Amino acid sequence: MVNQKLPAIWFGGDYNPDQWDEQVWKQDVEEMKRQHVNVVTLPVFSWAHLQPEEDRFDFSWLDKILDLLYENGIHVIMATPTAAQPAWMSKKYPEILPVDIAGRKKQHGARNNFCPNSEVYRNFSRRIAGAMAQRYCKHPSIVLWHVNNEYGTRCYCENCSRKFRTWLSKRYGSLEVLNERWNTRFWGHTYYEWDEISAPTYLSEMVYDSHAARDITFFPSMAIDYDRFMSESIQHCFENERDEIRKYMPDTPITTNIMAPYKALDLFSWGKSLDVLAWDCYPSNEEIIRSDLPAVLGMKFDLMRGVKNGQPFMLMEQTPSQQNWLAFNSQKRPGVMRLWSYQALAHGSESVLFFQWRQSQSGFEKYHAAMMPHAGHSNTRICRELTQLGGELESLKDQLLNAETNARVAIVFDWPNWWTVEYSSGPSVALRYQEQVENYYKALHKNNIAVDIVSKKADFSHYDIVIAPVMCMVDEIFVQKCEELVKQGKTFITTFFSGLVDENDRVILGGYPGAFRKMLGIWVEETDALLPQQQNRVCPVQSDDAYSCGMLCDVVHAEGAQVKAVYGDDYYAGMPCVTENTYGKGKAVYVATAVQQEYLEKLLGGYCAAYGIEPALKVPEGVEVTCREKSNEKIYFILNHTEKPQTVQLPTDKEWDVLIGAMTFDKCCTLKPFDVLILKEVQ
Ligand code: GLA
Ligand code: ZN
Repeated sequence: MVNQKLPAIWFGGDYNPDQWDEQVWKQDVEEMKRQHVNVVTLPVFSWAHLQPEEDRFDFSWLDKILDLLYENGIHVIMATPTAAQPAWMSKKYPEILPVDIAGRKKQHGARNNFCPNSEVYRNFSRRIAGAMAQRYCKHPSIVLWHVNNEYGTRCYCENCSRKFRTWLSKRYGSLEVLNERWNTRFWGHTYYEWDEISAPTYLSEMVYDSHAARDITFFPSMAIDYDRFMSESIQHCFENERDEIRKYMPDTPITTNIMAPYKALDLFSWGKSLDVLAWDCYPSNEEIIRSDLPAVLGMKFDLMRGVKNGQPFMLMEQTPSQQNWLAFNSQKRPGVMRLWSYQALAHGSESVLFFQWRQSQSGFEKYHAAMMPHAGHSNTRICRELTQLGGELESLKDQLLNAETNARVAIVFDWPNWWTVEYSSGPSVALRYQEQVENYYKALHKNNIAVDIVSKKADFSHYDIVIAPVMCMVDEIFVQKCEELVKQGKTFITTFFSGLVDENDRVILGGYPGAFRKMLGIWVEETDALLPQQQNRVCPVQSDDAYSCGMLCDVVHAEGAQVKAVYGDDYYAGMPCVTENTYGKGKAVYVATAVQQEYLEKLLGGYCAAYGIEPALKVPEGVEVTCREKSNEKIYFILNHTEKPQTVQLPTDKEWDVLIGAMTFDKCCTLKPFDVLILKEVQ
């Protein structure tokens, strides 16, 4: 249990007291108490202050603030400050500074500007982490350790190239095997000596593709291995500090804060290194204006819960209102910050934390909202909303902690698959992995069906339906596990661009969709890529309906599978586009094209109904409902994501305790716009 030392929903944020004179600290603490803050994170970026010289630490100010916070009942998430090394360090040990993908040696500045494989960096970061842990191991305020901040560094320096070669030689044993697995015969890439291999950059195998608006590669097998290697290198940086802290504080959980489903870090591999997953939630401009934003956020929350197999996670950062680093930094409308905070809890978070406590006076983030604004008092809309939320969370005590989401549907997500899909040259730049997974998630979320997002290695046995959208890269163990699941009576659903390549990005020969072909009972002869303005139609065979589809259209032959829908247009009109194969006692379903959401909702709804999978409660459209369970208790979160009041009628044959919100005597509840109701079913 992560919240062991402080069994409550943690509420607070990043605190940078060293940016302020000491007389401000007292006011900070008073205002924190007023807002019901119980936890702050510090000192995230204070390495320069804590270690002003190579052999001199200065913890005096940190000692003082820790005591002050503790005396006032505020706990601390202790961060190591290693995301921004001091200037003297970069100057004296320039090897710490990374080389970017364009091959440019970076200079000191910004943050996250270090080579994760630099031994000097690792030694210094271990040393400061250890010095802090040793000094504060007995301090009663510390409830969690937070290593570094939003690991986002990447490097392509000579040192990284060297380490990459060692990593490769461990993975493949010999150059012969590597040449084989990377199929280096293509474009004459055969390697004769290990030192012919370097990090792939714009000077070699990588190129920025303006059509796709992303980096692509001339050599996917290598680029994917470099991504694996980089993700692991950064993970080792984390472990390097974690292990040092552990020596002094073996019982305090240790984590780092992770960005959006950040593409460069394979979080399912990271999961085992983290005691708890901590996530920073900052929807983009494109996301904020989407009408399906609740599903977009819901999926990210569920993915974060999936990283540690359903264990509760932490919402480590969000903004109280606006950001500064988007193109357009709109405010969160009244009620929205509270609503999204509860949405995080509804999906398994046990904290609501913000960036940051006091708004910085200058620097890049001075216009980023904070819990204590530049005005210097809390008589503001944002502060009032925070105070209300803080008070509510305080009133919940430990009631929400250690609950579980019992989903019977799983969506498989995979980072190396994400890399192969988006490094792929062809068939379409419009193919974005996350977006495709989102479409399937959204179709379920619309009907409030609980979903777990899981890794390929997860235990699937408690799911009735497992969906693996655009699962291009597969390994034998995963495929066998899916086959077993279906044989035992469950349903497996996959799509176009699936089952195609092995872990080295080599096509599985013998007809598409390669590894899944047998289970699906189909053969995909070829795949058409449609232009954005082109469409085809999905025509279900048992009705006269038709829905649009597009982007990629597989030309499919049913080889034993039952045809559920056919294409409506083009030379492949009448050919299957949705198939269902009976395999053992279960069904293996193939969706051969990107289909209209309405069709997807019906299709997935049908399979859910077949297993009796239903929403936790029946609610009007635009209202989200989730259920979190713990020993004999069921807690329901009902979230009105719309700008209109919504009325929810609860089943009258049950008794309910209202934890947040209000209900009438006839078990009816009208939620105001963006309002929330949390109920406990009385057993
Ligand atoms: C990230 C970082 C914080 C801060 C916020 C601003 O989440 O971790 O240090 O920069 O963004 O939104
Ligand atoms: Zn490097």
